[in-house]
Amino acid sequence: MFDLELNLGVVENFRKANPPLSSILVLSKENVFMPKFQGVVHSKLPNTGTTIFTVMSKLASEVGAINLSQGFPDFPCSEELISLVNQSMRKGFNQYAPMPGLLELRETIAEKIQNAYSAVYHPETEITITSGGTQALYTAIAAMVKEGDEVILFEPAYDSYAAAVELSGGIPIYIQLKAPDFHIDWNEVKKMIRQKTKMIIINTPHNPASAVLSAQDMLQLEKITKNTDIVILSDEVYEHLIFDGLEHQSVMRFPKLAERSFVVFSFGKTLHVTGWKMGYIVGPENLMKEFRKVHQFTVFSANHPFQWAINEFLKNKENYNYLPRFFQEKRDLFLQLTKGSRFKPLECKGSYFQLMTYKEITEEKDTDFAVRLTKEYGVASIPISVFYHKPVDNNLLRFCFAKQNETLEKAAEKLCRV
Ligand SMILES: Cc1ncc(COP(=O)(O)O)c(C=O)c1O
Repeated sequence: MFDLELNLGVVENFRKANPPLSSILVLSKENVFMPKFQGVVHSKLPNTGTTIFTVMSKLASEVGAINLSQGFPDFPCSEELISLVNQSMRKGFNQYAPMPGLLELRETIAEKIQNAYSAVYHPETEITITSGGTQALYTAIAAMVKEGDEVILFEPAYDSYAAAVELSGGIPIYIQLKAPDFHIDWNEVKKMIRQKTKMIIINTPHNPASAVLSAQDMLQLEKITKNTDIVILSDEVYEHLIFDGLEHQSVMRFPKLAERSFVVFSFGKTLHVTGWKMGYIVGPENLMKEFRKVHQFTVFSANHPFQWAINEFLKNKENYNYLPRFFQEKRDLFLQLTKGSRFKPLECKGSYFQLMTYKEITEEKDTDFAVRLTKEYGVASIPISVFYHKPVDNNLLRFCFAKQNETLEKAAEKLCRV
C-alpha cells in the first residue's frame, strides 16, 4: 500500500537536500536513493566534472543574477519559425527523417554554401543534418580518431573537443592562442605536427576569444597540412556572427583545405534556438561516408519536424543575412553601456561573447571573481581559465551579449557599480 504520509515526508526531506529537483518526483518507500553500483567504475573521463556553463547558470538562478554566462539568447526566436514547426507536425513529419537528413534541407544548405563561399557540396553525399553542432563535432572525431592518434586543438577551447578526442582514445595536443588578440602562431603548430597527427580542430569565429581567422591564417593551415593525411575539423557555428565588415573566412573558401575538412554548423546559434539542438556538417564524400557510419548508430537521424520547418525558413535569406548587423548592434550597445566601468573590453571580431579584463578591479583568480561577481553584484559570466586543460588565468571574464537590450542595460548598470 502507498503510505502517503511517509512518502510525503520522504519527498519533503529529499527536496530540502536537492532543491532544484522537479516537484513531480516520486520516491519509493524502501529506497529513497538508487543504491550505488557495487563494481569498480573505470571512468573514461576521470577529470571531467559538471561544465562551468551549468555551474554558473545554476548559481545565477539561485542568487537571481543576470545570466550573461551561458551562450544562448534571452529573446524569442521568430514566430514564423514556431508556426512552421507546428505546421510541420500537423503535416505529419513526425516519424524518422532519412538518416543523413531531409534531402530538401540538404539541398537548401548546399545552395546557401555555394552562394556564400563558392564551394559546391553534393546534398546527397556530402551534407548531413545532425542533432546540433556538438553532436557533429563528436561524431566526426569518433569517426576519424583512433587509439593513440594526436589531435591538435587551440586553447582556450570549446570544452567538447578534448572530451571527444579522449573518448576515442586519441591524445589532445594543446597549443595556446596568443593573448591579447588570441592569434595562432603557425610556426608553433608546424613544430607540433608529427606522423601521429590525425586531426587539427579550428574554430572561427572563436568561442570564447571572439577572434576570427584571416585568409592568411587559412593559407598557413593549407601550407602546413599539404602532403599530410591530416583531417581538419572546422567549427564554424558562429559563421554569421562576424562584425565590422569582416568576411567569414571559412575553410570552404580554400579548395585545398575544403578537400580535407569537415565543417560544422549550428541552427541553434543561427536561428536563436539553442534548445532545439539542430545543426549540420559538410565534408568530402569519403570523409562523410565514415561520419555517417557513426552517425547512424548514435542518433540515426535528427529531429524530423524541425528539419522541415528550418528548410522552409531558410528559403528567405533575410532570415540569416541580418545576423551580423543585429549582433554587432548588441555588442556595441554592451560596450557603450560598460564604458564607464572598470571592466576593459578586448577586441571582439565575432561570436556573441565579449571578453573583459578586470585587472583594474582585483587580482583575484578569475574563477573566484566570477562567483563573487554573480553573488555580490548580480551578473553571471564565465571565467576564461576554464577553457584551458591547465588553467591559464589572464584575469578575463566572458560575457554573452545575445540578450535583450533591457537585459544588457541592467547588467551594465551593475557592472558599472563594481
Ligand atoms: C564553439 C562552439 N562549437 C559548438 C557549439 C555547439 O553547438 P550546438 O549547441 O549546436 O551543439 C557551441 C555552443 O556553444 C560553441 O560555442
